[in-house]
Amino acid sequence: MLPNRLRRRRWKAALAGFILLVLAGTVAARLWRGDMAASSVSPPAPAAGQAVVLKDAYVPKGFTVHEAQAIFDALARQMPLAADAFRRSAHYREGMTCVTCHQELRWDQASGSVDVTSLGRVPPERCGECHEQEYDGFRKSRHFKAVTVFREVVRYKALAGYPAMQQQGCNRCHEPIGQSCSACHPAHLFEPPRPPKDEFGGCQRCHLGPDHHQLESYVASVHYQVARARGDGIPNCVFCHTADDNKHHIFRIKGTKDHGRTALMAKCTQCHTEQFARRAFEGIDAIKHETNKVVDAARQIIRDLYADGILNRVSGSLTDEQGLPALNPNLTAYDQHVHPIENLMFRMFKYDAVATIAGAQHFSAVRTHWYGHAQLMETYNRIRQMAQELRFMHALSKKLGVPLPSIPVYRYTHETGRELDEPWHDPVGYRKRLAEFYSEVNE
Ligand code: HEC
Ligand code: HEC
Ligand code: HEC
Ligand code: HEC
Ligand code: HEC
Ligand code: HEC
Ligand code: HEC
Repeated sequence: MLPNRLRRRRWKAALAGFILLVLAGTVAARLWRGDMAASSVSPPAPAAGQAVVLKDAYVPKGFTVHEAQAIFDALARQMPLAADAFRRSAHYREGMTCVTCHQELRWDQASGSVDVTSLGRVPPERCGECHEQEYDGFRKSRHFKAVTVFREVVRYKALAGYPAMQQQGCNRCHEPIGQSCSACHPAHLFEPPRPPKDEFGGCQRCHLGPDHHQLESYVASVHYQVARARGDGIPNCVFCHTADDNKHHIFRIKGTKDHGRTALMAKCTQCHTEQFARRAFEGIDAIKHETNKVVDAARQIIRDLYADGILNRVSGSLTDEQGLPALNPNLTAYDQHVHPIENLMFRMFKYDAVATIAGAQHFSAVRTHWYGHAQLMETYNRIRQMAQELRFMHALSKKLGVPLPSIPVYRYTHETGRELDEPWHDPVGYRKRLAEFYSEVNE
């Protein structure tokens, strides 16, 4: 394949360059004696924005150096800001050009213009040909494997009539992380996302918001304060969550026996005693335990409503084997597909409980308590109250012989009917298939 060839050519070019430099160095040494030689052996790299000579070694098969240069010039006219970003990059300074990565690019030699629609995706494998270690770490992370599962969940399917929202509201986070290095290195500067320019390693684009509260929690913790004061960003997301020998290997947390703690502990003990860190982990466990207890109490209330025929189960309110509302985020719907009390249940485990736990995992007092626990208890209270009202209404309607009216599902502009498909009609089979899919992903 071409990138290997590229590498070989790069190696040959580097070797030729090295020989030339050594020769030049030897000549210089003869001319200027001793100390001047070193500076002529390693000329300074050109500064960002400075004109750079495109290197033959970076021109892929199917293009000549001359063509690659002409394409670059054409693109610099056609999309000046993309070219500008690229000109500031290490890749440009290295002598690379647009076709080094965009190898499927089509252009018209006669008119000297590029068909910009042919500037498609650049897969991580292409980057990996030159950055093997980074690609290797990337592949080991859960990110790489878990990108397709979100399409299978009820919440995604429920948006079938609203594809623009699927695109903007789900795909934008879930697709790139396993499919493109640009998830954390937006094209074309390709700078390492390091402090001081990037304090969060690129993670901030996705790991935030009510259902994955990590950024907010970290920012409101003493560790962020420490990281800023030190100036090198330690400890930040990347420091705590990646293997020591590979900053692209984000080690697993879910689906591991120890919840990633052996690896995490090795980070903590660089600053804290093991005893202190262990106590911190015990604190997380205690909060997880208590939070799950409250969530379970709310589930019982809802299960009893189903059991007593007061609340009608719809497919969005998938339940587990014991008839309890399923808590797996993959199995539950919210919004207009379910009853408002089920919405509260969703809110409780997906937002309030997650905020409490993510806050605790990242040692943020305000997130753990005010945005977490306090909200959780408030939601619990509303569920209890609403359950009572539902029971009362049910009894009243029976007594009066007046049925409670039902509310029809809202229909999106591009309604397809698909949103009521599979999971809605075969919840048990659907749940089984999803579980199978998950056990594969977790391996
Ligand atoms: C080091 C590899 C690399 C080089 C060199 C490179 N690109 Fe890209 N380009 C990418 C990546 C990665 C993406 C993001 C798309 C993706 O993730 O697949 C991208 C995306 C694009 C897009 C699509 C953006 C959009 O929103 O439609 C355009 C246009 C583009 N590049 C133009 C250029 C131009 C012009 C040059 C030369 C000045 C260039 N690229 C050089 C890697 C590269
Ligand atoms: C043809 C080889 C090649 C390809 C393909 C390539 N790179 Fe690079 N990359 C380099 C070289 C050479 C450097 C500069 C020397 C170094 O830091 O290793 C570099 C540097 C980088 C840097 C560090 C930049 C800095 O400012 O320190 C990042 C980040 C990077 N590349 C990401 C990518 C990504 C993402 C892709 C794919 C879209 C990619 N590279 C494709 C060869 C390549
Ligand atoms: C802001 C970015 C973002 C958006 C938007 C987003 N997600 Fe996520 N999603 C994430 C992150 C990050 C995680 C991992 C959270 C964690 O592990 O704490 C995640 C986790 C999940 C999970 C759980 C995966 C597992 O391993 O159990 C599912 C399912 C999911 N998202 C589906 C969706 C669907 C469906 C949508 C749109 C309706 C959506 N997400 C919108 C970022 C996002
Ligand atoms: C989850 C976010 C993330 C993804 C995805 C990602 N990177 Fe990185 N990358 C980083 C971070 C963070 C750093 C800075 C690490 C550090 O501080 O040492 C970095 C640094 C780099 C560097 C510079 C390394 C150095 O030692 O200077 C290269 C090259 C690079 N990445 C290439 C890639 C390639 C190739 C891919 C895709 C296979 C990729 N990255 C995907 C977050 C990411
Ligand atoms: C483009 C979006 C995106 C970016 C950027 C991103 N993530 Fe994720 N991350 C996700 C999604 C989505 C998941 C959930 C995958 C799943 O379980 O299906 C996830 C899962 C995780 C997990 C859970 C892994 C497990 O085993 O339980 C960790 C830890 C994680 N990410 C850390 C990071 C770190 C650290 C960074 C930055 C260096 C980062 N992520 C950048 C989207 C992203
Ligand atoms: C001081 C170290 C530290 C820093 C900094 C840090 N984390 Fe964490 N992270 C942890 C610990 C500890 C856990 C909990 C592991 C456990 O529950 O045993 C965790 C858990 C997680 C999880 C998994 C949640 C779950 O239960 O599935 C994700 C995702 C995550 N962190 C992302 C991030 C992101 C993104 C950042 C930066 C905004 C970040 N972390 C900063 C230590 C850290
Ligand atoms: C770079 C050093 C560093 C690393 C690594 C680190 N911490 Fe800390 N941590 C600190 C400092 C400094 C403080 C503030 C101590 C103080 O002011 O008393 C702190 C405070 C804490 C606190 C008290 C928080 C508060 O608000 O009072 C806990 C709990 C904690 N760390 C747990 C951990 C755990 C668990 C890990 C590993 C996942 C970890 N730390 C990793 C430096 C670090």
